[in-house]
Amino acid sequence: MLRQATPSDLNVICKAFQARRDVFPHVRADYVRRACEQGRCFYDSGVVIIWQQYVKAVRLGDVTVPQGNVILHQILNATNERGTAAAVFQRFCEFVTSLGVNVNLYLTVRESNQRARRFYEKLGMRSIGRIAWAKGTIPGVIYAKFFARRPPSSQFKGFLSVFAFSSRPAPDVIVNGDRPRLRRRDA
Ligand SMILES: CC(C)(COP(=O)(O)OP(=O)(O)OC[C@H]1O[C@@H](n2cnc3c(N)ncnc32)[C@H](O)[C@@H]1OP(=O)(O)O)[C@@H](O)C(=O)NCCC(=O)NCCS
Repeated sequence: MLRQATPSDLNVICKAFQARRDVFPHVRADYVRRACEQGRCFYDSGVVIIWQQYVKAVRLGDVTVPQGNVILHQILNATNERGTAAAVFQRFCEFVTSLGVNVNLYLTVRESNQRARRFYEKLGMRSIGRIAWAKGTIPGVIYAKFFARRPPSSQFKGFLSVFAFSSRPAPDVIVNGDRPRLRRRDA
């Protein structure tokens, strides 16, 4: 199981984000604190992952993420150790699969962030759409990982089981024809 960030981690996590303002210009302490309080921030082996499972469908650039899926909002390796972020990310994927049989993983990344894109691709994410931030001046890529697995005997035993998602398989990603919507927070 991944380690949840605790209040005593907040300082060091915020400092790590501050040190990477180039990648995360909009991440503020109150945002990190809220994610921690809501149990949406892992801090394990020096790697931070902030994520959210959405009860409703979410529009992400030219993609609609169906309800119940997870969006990874930020990942940051605060260590210089190679391989650590990959191991934590793999465990995060296992966590996502534990949330329910229809739950898949989505994220966005700046097109120019070659290191992160290589990292995601190496770990089995595939590019499924486009997004842009800052009035269209910063292009980004949407990645997803669709997990292949058998339905467990008790469906939706995960984190948001209280929300009674449809028992039908989630539709595959819906790609809209419209222009990407701007979003501030995702990196
Ligand atoms: C994204 C991140 C978590 C990946 O963790 P990491 O520890 O760097 O992961 P890895 O060491 O496995 O490196 C990823 C790949 O990028 C490659 N890489 C390293 N530096 C690179 C560079 N400057 N340009 C392009 N690729 C690079 C590595 O060689 C590696 O590929 P390989 O395993 O095939 O050699 C980490 O780089 C990070 O915290 N970046 C800053 C925050 C960020 O960009 N987050 C993502 C925002 S969406």
